[in-house]
Amino acid sequence: MSFATLKELLDPALEGHYAVGAFNVNNLEWLQAIVQAAEEERAPLILQASENALAYMGLRNFAALARIAAEESTVPIAIHLDHGKSFQTAMRALREGFTSIMIDTSALPYDQNVEQTRKAVEAAGALGLAVEAELGKIGTTAEMEENPALYTDPQEAKDFIDRTGAYALAASVGSAHGVYKAEPRLDFDRMRRMRALLPQTPLVLHGGSGIPDEQIRQAIAIGVAKINVNTENQVAFTRKLREVLAADAKVYDPRKVLGPGRDAIVEAVREKMRLFGTSGKA
Ligand code: 13P
Repeated sequence: MSFATLKELLDPALEGHYAVGAFNVNNLEWLQAIVQAAEEERAPLILQASENALAYMGLRNFAALARIAAEESTVPIAIHLDHGKSFQTAMRALREGFTSIMIDTSALPYDQNVEQTRKAVEAAGALGLAVEAELGKIGTTAEMEENPALYTDPQEAKDFIDRTGAYALAASVGSAHGVYKAEPRLDFDRMRRMRALLPQTPLVLHGGSGIPDEQIRQAIAIGVAKINVNTENQVAFTRKLREVLAADAKVYDPRKVLGPGRDAIVEAVREKMRLFGTSGKA
């Protein structure tokens, strides 16, 4: 059995200058693939699901499957709510055994974001669990490209963490969710300023797909300790499915289609774990 909390995974990552991969789960095959990759790489792991993915899978279905995966795994696994938009969802997740939550009320005015985040921090804290919170806006690639007005202000980040007690900070620093049109350019100077003001706070890089390896390495060196990845796995999975379907017009057994897709995710995730420096850390 190997359940872990967010803090148990990210404190050593911050100190050891590596980042734990937080891979989004979209269905059973994804969960299996991501856990298999972690076992093969001996890497600590964050299994996460967004509200949309939980609506698709069923929150309790995901929680049950993730719990069994963590029980049976030999590497430490945190079960994390990605972008929880409300206190209610965060509480449901905790009730179903998630070991970690993100509360994302960043769309609200600043004081309300502080208020909602602090409420979640208090509730999770009563269970001995830590919270990831968002400040600034990390939107889609279409919204974010070259729009520093949405980026996190370091001084405000310090105030936000002081007032909310959030443990990890999803900061907007030039990344975005989805497929980039132009090559992203992370704002390292902004990250350094945040790191100097908040030396104990692991920074979380959302939109980890499609960022050049060198920028990922630099972000980790500055203090990014959790990196979220979804889109690259979606692309790898779907590409493989198209390939299998195109190669055999008669195939109808879903296992013969989804199985190779699952294998494609294993490879994609293993590559990320090596890049993030988590391989061999479990
Ligand atoms: P990508 O889909 O761009 O990899 O982002 C994932 C993410 O940040 C989930 O919160």
